Amino acid sequence: MADEPPIRLRGVVKSFGSGSSEVHALRGINLDISAGELFMLVGPSGCGKTTLISVVAGILRHDQGEVRLFGEDLSRMSDRCKSDFRARHVGFVFQQFNLVPTLNVQENVAITLQIGGQSRRRAMDRAAETLDQVGLGDRLGAMPSALSGGQQQRVAIARSIIHDPSILVCDEPTSALDHEKGRQVMELLRAIAIRPGRALIIVTHDNRTYKFSDRIATMEDGYIVRFVRRRFDPESVDDAPAQPAGPPAGMAAITALAAAH
Ligand SMILES: Nc1ncnc2c1ncn2[C@@H]1O[C@H](COP(=O)(O)OP(=O)(O)OP(=O)(O)O)[C@@H](O)[C@H]1O
Ligand SMILES: [Mg+2]
Repeated sequence: MADEPPIRLRGVVKSFGSGSSEVHALRGINLDISAGELFMLVGPSGCGKTTLISVVAGILRHDQGEVRLFGEDLSRMSDRCKSDFRARHVGFVFQQFNLVPTLNVQENVAITLQIGGQSRRRAMDRAAETLDQVGLGDRLGAMPSALSGGQQQRVAIARSIIHDPSILVCDEPTSALDHEKGRQVMELLRAIAIRPGRALIIVTHDNRTYKFSDRIATMEDGYIVRFVRRRFDPESVDDAPAQPAGPPAGMAAITALAAAH
């Protein structure tokens, strides 16, 4: 369907366990997310946020309802098709950066493509380009332990976007970061989101990140109970101390990339 948004959920239900220990994590979710939209999901612990984005990312299978990504119905795909689709179109950023401590920064990012069957050389070249986009082009050989939390999260983001996914889901990407590093990561995600054709969902507990969103959905007990549409205002994100060297180097590159598409 030409006018269908990239992400469409209808009546999505997901439970864990059975009998008296059954947990109704999603009780009927209806949701449309447009291309180029930075969509946030908020709500108390246990309300179903991670479950919802895991269903959207094809990591968890839902029990009922429809999950349509770019017009394709995930529930009708075989496991194999779904993992192919996920490998091609979906990126996932976790709260904990999940970097491999024994691999350097470039290898940590290249590994996604190598797992997908690309040669080490091509994967390493592409990793270098992607790390440059997130402002870490000068840290390719560093080990993760030598990086700050914000830098580690940027490596994790590079790893999630190296295959140029159309859908990027992020689970609390700033919760391990201080205010300034969190702001830089949000600016980076914002720049990634504005690329046409890409949809981005961010789960957050951190109300300082709300200003980066276009729309916020509040979840409670397995339901979306409220949507708030915001108008993103670049001026409003300038309330933190200015960075000495302007925006992260990767921002300009990604904004240019976005403009080119
Ligand atoms: N694999 C699982 N097995 C059993 N129950 C689960 C599983 N994953 C999640 N749940 C339950 O489903 C509900 C929703 O969990 P979910 O992780 O989606 O919440 P959340 O909103 O992401 O919470 P938080 O903000 O703490 O990360 C919770 O009651 C949780 O205990
Ligand atoms: Mg969670």
